[in-house]
Amino acid sequence: MSKKIKICDCTLRDGQQSLIATRLSTKDMLPIISEMDKVGFGAMEVWGGATYDSCLRYLKEDPWERLRAIRKAAPKTKLQMLLRGQNILGYRHYADDVVEMFVRKSIENGIDIIRIFDALNDARNLETAVKACKKEGGHAQLAISYTLSDVHTESYFVKLAKQYRDIGADSICIKDMAGLLLPDPAYKLVKAIKDEVKLPIEVHSHYTSGVASMTYLKAIEAGADIIDTDMSPFSMGTSQPATEVMNAALKGTKYDPELDEHLLKSIADYFVPIREKALESGLLSTKVLSVDIATLLYQVPGGMLSNLVSQLKNANAEDRYKEVLEEIPRVRADLGYPPLVTPSSQIVGTQAVLNVLMGERYKMTPKETKDLVRGMYGKTPVPISKEIRKKIIGDEKPVTCRPADLLKPELPEAEEKIKDFKEQPEDVLSYVLFPQVATEFFKFRQAQKYGIDPNLAHVESGVYPI
Ligand code: CO
Repeated sequence: MSKKIKICDCTLRDGQQSLIATRLSTKDMLPIISEMDKVGFGAMEVWGGATYDSCLRYLKEDPWERLRAIRKAAPKTKLQMLLRGQNILGYRHYADDVVEMFVRKSIENGIDIIRIFDALNDARNLETAVKACKKEGGHAQLAISYTLSDVHTESYFVKLAKQYRDIGADSICIKDMAGLLLPDPAYKLVKAIKDEVKLPIEVHSHYTSGVASMTYLKAIEAGADIIDTDMSPFSMGTSQPATEVMNAALKGTKYDPELDEHLLKSIADYFVPIREKALESGLLSTKVLSVDIATLLYQVPGGMLSNLVSQLKNANAEDRYKEVLEEIPRVRADLGYPPLVTPSSQIVGTQAVLNVLMGERYKMTPKETKDLVRGMYGKTPVPISKEIRKKIIGDEKPVTCRPADLLKPELPEAEEKIKDFKEQPEDVLSYVLFPQVATEFFKFRQAQKYGIDPNLAHVESGVYPI
């Protein structure tokens, strides 16, 4: 019995996010999108994740305009986005009114599939987004943040998949953001989930540790339905396996995705000069391109590796890279083994950098570390020890309810604050997610519109700023 595997091409979201710090501009995407639309991808992941923040902060683009432009250029292909549950695309929990409006606007502006995950795999943090997605007629794909630890066993993940099915998942994604999922465990895990949960399974991995394409093959043999890839110039390294390669590897088998390899080649050719320029400018570092087996030891996802490199570069402390990598698993154990994915990857990464650079562990703890310990992101996979808790939040009592239950609606006040800048209903969402960055962007946009020199700090042009 033949089973055509679906390919989800992630070039425009995860590919560029993992390799060039999410700096691909809409201008550089648009000319090729109509060609990509002809391929017959199961879906294209094009939005969400870090792209929203990057549009506003670095590229001075309106993320909603990007989404509408992509939708217009790709009318046939299903468009997918990545949403961090109650964190939406930001770094804290937002009130339900914000999540609901964000989901509704995403679907209205062109998204078909919303991949929703929670950094801690706390299902309570997905519920509002799932309900909103289904209400708007979207496909809610719920993603399991895959990680390794004593508590993250196969039965833990199967139980989680069942829980996700029960709260309304239309499909399940095994989201391996660090390239930790090895071929044999992938086979077993996919099979175990498939046996219990009769939903399509998508496997998402990163090439960081060099095993992802083998993992995909075994996952496919075990019954996975969809795999995530990127066009070759934005593949491998800390990104996904290459689209063309997976298509070729499966050719003639019963899993053949049947994509046109010549069309794929011409699409890849379009991205080659963009990659070359990114390499020349240093935006694409050779550090993230080679296999880093350390990822299997430290469990550091691709995006986090490139962030660490630039964080240390800024602090003139690139020589401390290895020490920071070694500190990460220790911080992670202290903080209850959160999977390393946004925002917990930033929290653990930044805390590890601070612990190393300050010369004393937890001498300095950002608000985000404190909030994680306070339970403000949800339940950690294992409880945080009393000693660590005391060191970080003193005698404060952590919360045990769904964190968003503590939040009042946020939209009315935000609407009031942006009334001088508002050009579309979606602007309020940019403001709630990134108040400062969005305000700066609104000023820039206004200045541009009226031809006034915005006299802002240097605005990075195009695709290749550092
Ligand atoms: Co990813």
